[in-house]
Amino acid sequence: MNKLLQFRFLLISTFSLIFAFATPQSKQQHEMTASEIVQSLDYANFPQVNSGCISNGCHDKIEPIRQHGSKMASMIYQKGEKVGDPNGCIVCHAGSPFSNDKNIAHENMIKFPASLWVIDKTCGECHPKHVYNIHRNLRNVS
Ligand code: HEC
Ligand code: HEC
Repeated sequence: MNKLLQFRFLLISTFSLIFAFATPQSKQQHEMTASEIVQSLDYANFPQVNSGCISNGCHDKIEPIRQHGSKMASMIYQKGEKVGDPNGCIVCHAGSPFSNDKNIAHENMIKFPASLWVIDKTCGECHPKHVYNIHRNLRNVS
């Protein structure tokens, strides 16, 4: 009998403990504001921070062009790694990630990779059909 009482007491105190901890936490759960979401994103998680364009204080606050875990980002990082730029910036922007001198790094850089004049060499490398269609879009042929 005594043991049963003890067990009950243990059970009740365990549950009250759980509730004591669970209640304030569930109160804290609120819908995140846009700026909170932005702050919570892991922008630092490029494949190789402190290399290429993300080093020496250059572009270290840059957002990934696509979520790090996405297929597109992975493919860009792979493509970049093969040419010595694991963060993949030169896949779209060209230029040289090997110099700390801004002028040298930005030499022949493509500022607007989605521009129709260069898109074959940037997005078109992986999205040839889309780019073909863009060029033949009515707005471009008329
Ligand atoms: C998938 C192609 C792609 C990749 C990879 C890419 N960019 Fe861009 N980037 C763009 C496009 C498109 C724009 C927008 C240009 C415009 O305004 O038309 C842009 C804009 C920018 C700008 C202009 C300012 C801004 O923030 O909008 C900077 C700086 C920049 N990129 C740096 C980088 C760096 C550094 C990396 C590597 C970490 C990188 N980009 C990787 C396509 C890319
Ligand atoms: C290194 C290859 C590569 C480059 C360069 C590239 N992409 Fe992608 N992109 C992908 C892959 C892989 C996917 C995911 C598979 C798919 O949806 O086709 C994708 C998906 C997308 C999607 C669909 C995303 C979604 O959420 O459904 C868009 C839009 C897109 N890319 C636009 C662009 C633009 C614009 C550029 C140039 C500024 C670009 N891509 C450059 C590989 C690339």
